[in-house]
Amino acid sequence: MKRFAIPAAVLALTGAVLLSVVAQDKPADAGAPAAAAAEAKEVICFESRQGASEVTQRELQPGWPNVKCSPATGATLWYGDPYDGTAPMAKMALLENLPEGQAVVRPRADKLNLLASCATACHNGIVPKGFPKDNRPVPIPTMEGMLPELKDFQHGRGAIWCLDCHHITQRNKLVNHFGDPVDIEQSPVLCGKCHGDKLRDWRDGIHGKRIGQFVSGGKQRWFTCVECHNPHNVQQGDRNRGFAQLQPEPPPQLPPGMKDAGHEKIHPIAH
Ligand code: HEC
Ligand code: HEC
Ligand code: HEC
Repeated sequence: MKRFAIPAAVLALTGAVLLSVVAQDKPADAGAPAAAAAEAKEVICFESRQGASEVTQRELQPGWPNVKCSPATGATLWYGDPYDGTAPMAKMALLENLPEGQAVVRPRADKLNLLASCATACHNGIVPKGFPKDNRPVPIPTMEGMLPELKDFQHGRGAIWCLDCHHITQRNKLVNHFGDPVDIEQSPVLCGKCHGDKLRDWRDGIHGKRIGQFVSGGKQRWFTCVECHNPHNVQQGDRNRGFAQLQPEPPPQLPPGMKDAGHEKIHPIAH
């Protein structure tokens, strides 16, 4: 039998409670027009990076959505299935010894609209004329037109540029320190060549995020570096570092019948 993740089960319970609360709030005849519900506006939640890791809400089973998101920020707060839309994580340097199929990721390629044409329509395996001789940032109007975030490229404080990360002739691939191509789905390998400490922390579960089964050998979805960090703008936000701040969420709703969260202050083991 399929084992369920403990956190997923807890979340699922919370979800069920929320659903019943929502159901109670509705007027008595609200269940009837199913067609109206179908016409309801599409809900798009973002996971860890707005504009780059988005999920459209849909029902896995009647009344059981794949995700729920915050009405305040649009951020995903709950997963109906933590493995929805994932694929086994590719074998990568430093990550060869993970059990087969236990680590899954959300593929990136379908989120990257330009990628397919990068190495065919535009760069076509040929180094363009006037190719820069060093990695000093220079404006590239054509690229900026297609991907406006490149107008304000912020990574490495002026020290790194496109071809430190993108392969010179195979432009839909990333590049390692030896000039060999790295698949776009293996971006942690790219990041790890300059941020080796963070790659090791991520491998060991100290940096980043995972959801799924928190039991020995349990299947987990790993969030990859680019799902949180925009490689073209890691110094975003007013602070000129890290992330723009999100509004903190209010505490979750108490289960029916519970008046306050006083129980949280009582610990069975004295300490
Ligand atoms: C720090 C490494 C790094 C640098 C420097 C960098 N990129 Fe990228 N780029 C990436 C990664 C990684 C991805 C894939 C991102 C993802 O999965 O969201 C990407 C994606 C892209 C895409 C595809 C975007 C899409 O939506 O389809 C384009 C185009 C691109 N980069 C162009 C450039 C250009 C031009 C430069 C220089 C001005 C540049 N990049 C500099 C790492 C980098
Ligand atoms: C070619 C080397 C190189 C690669 C590849 C690279 N980085 Fe960086 N990164 C840098 C440098 C240099 C800095 C600037 C450090 C500083 O300012 O102290 C930096 C800064 C950062 C920061 C910190 C921003 C801040 O100011 O706090 C983050 C986050 C980051 N990189 C993430 C990534 C991710 C994610 C990838 C993979 C997509 C990546 N990097 C790939 C060189 C690189
Ligand atoms: C779940 C989201 C998430 C994932 C996945 C993730 N990071 Fe981060 N990372 C963060 C957060 C949050 C910070 C703290 C940023 C801040 O200071 O605001 C951070 C900070 C960093 C920094 C800057 C550290 C410093 O000392 O200032 C680097 C470099 C970095 N991450 C690289 C990576 C790399 C490389 C990967 C993949 C191997 C990765 N991150 C995966 C969320 C993530």
